[in-house]
Amino acid sequence: MTVEDCKTLTAVHFEQFKKIVGEQFVLADEEQLKNYGHDETENLLYLPQVVIKPRTAEEISAIFRICNEHTIPVTPRGAGTGLSGGALPQFGGVLISMERMNSIVEIDERNLQVVTEPGVITEVLQNAVKEKGLFYPPDPSSRGSCFIGGNIAENSGGPKAVKYGVVKDYVLNLQVVLPTGDIIWTGANVLKNSTGYNLTQLMIGSEGTLGIVTKIVLKLLPHPKYELLMLVPFNSLEKAGEAVSAIFRAGFTTSALELVEIDALRIVSAHLNDNTIPIKDGVEAHLLIEVDGNHLDTLMNEMEAIANLLTGFDCGEIYFADDEQQKATLWRLRRRVAEIVKLEGYSIEEDTVVPRAELPALIRGVKALGRQYQFQSVCYGHAGDGNLHIRIKKEGSIYSLNNPAIVPALKAIFELVFSLGGTISGEHGIGLLQKEFLDIVFTDTNMQLMKGIKKVFDPNNILNRGKIFDL
Ligand code: LAC
Ligand code: ZN
Repeated sequence: MTVEDCKTLTAVHFEQFKKIVGEQFVLADEEQLKNYGHDETENLLYLPQVVIKPRTAEEISAIFRICNEHTIPVTPRGAGTGLSGGALPQFGGVLISMERMNSIVEIDERNLQVVTEPGVITEVLQNAVKEKGLFYPPDPSSRGSCFIGGNIAENSGGPKAVKYGVVKDYVLNLQVVLPTGDIIWTGANVLKNSTGYNLTQLMIGSEGTLGIVTKIVLKLLPHPKYELLMLVPFNSLEKAGEAVSAIFRAGFTTSALELVEIDALRIVSAHLNDNTIPIKDGVEAHLLIEVDGNHLDTLMNEMEAIANLLTGFDCGEIYFADDEQQKATLWRLRRRVAEIVKLEGYSIEEDTVVPRAELPALIRGVKALGRQYQFQSVCYGHAGDGNLHIRIKKEGSIYSLNNPAIVPALKAIFELVFSLGGTISGEHGIGLLQKEFLDIVFTDTNMQLMKGIKKVFDPNNILNRGKIFDL
């Protein structure tokens, strides 16, 4: 199927959509379309022909039936915080915004579960369950604005993943509207399930290419009582990487183990006018280390033991966050890295992941490739998971998509990642941006299997066409 095969929307379609969702929820004004034509990925903008804001699964089903019959491309969109272009309406057509499907349906305290609609902001959901003493751990940096539905689409992670796992570890059941208009539940609201193929897990991380999730059942945990946080400076970026696997080998399970290279911290501190962290000469990186649990004494002992261990890795003076405000400050500095370094020209983001002990080799390799291909980079991210975000700045190249000035460098980074036993994306997805690199990690057989699955779910290739791969 090519772009030319797409039928353009007609006035008749617009009338049908208005009938389904109500006139005020069908937008076609150019300024409005622009708001929905981008996400957080580089500076890309693609205008849809229409934005539709449904309220129910049945409305989405009715929209799909029309689009499927007339081969109209449909792009689902959560909050637009994605970093791989998954929500970009590259082929125009219909953009379905999930923003009105924003209710938390039920917090089931008896079973430690929550049923939610996809347009709920992740942090709102976390706070709602926390009020009941419950915990939904996955916490992407954008949790204050991203939607839980988008997190399902990308299989998001975040700092807590190192102890608690990622989105896939919490999803029990999903209501999904398929591109054909059929509505299904993928599983059951149970903690164990060996009943047929696992369609729930197939949906998670499918980047809005197989169906639109309209209800989500998540498993919850009891909320830990205490969290302790410290920030550790290192005189060598690589040594910081080495320290990461040493912490785990020594038997500690931290609830966050994040790395921030010094240039990122410098840029973020300056931008936020925040001098909490003194930036000393010679420091190349910091590790942000958190432990959590219900026994304060145990946690303090654990922090001390980790701090002692780190003295063997050429670390500097450790900063312990004493109160909630100091913790919030450190987390703000960490969480805002991506957004703020982008303003300083680090506009290209890669989401590499390697086995944890290969982190120093990855860091070393990326810096060497930077010299070879003449790009600057700041590394940060979820070191405890081996999930290193690499933000790239290259003179004259603010975007990467089909850009011959930067693609060879990115290819070299992913080849390095693969050679270290890693893969292309840990939590941001492939979307539009990384699909040309998939052949580094997958064989033709892998690709044919994935394409076959796509065709079963979406025979007319209307849903999020051209994301992850081209058919
Ligand atoms: C982060 C996002 C970009 O870790 O994944 O800040
Ligand atoms: Zn991240």
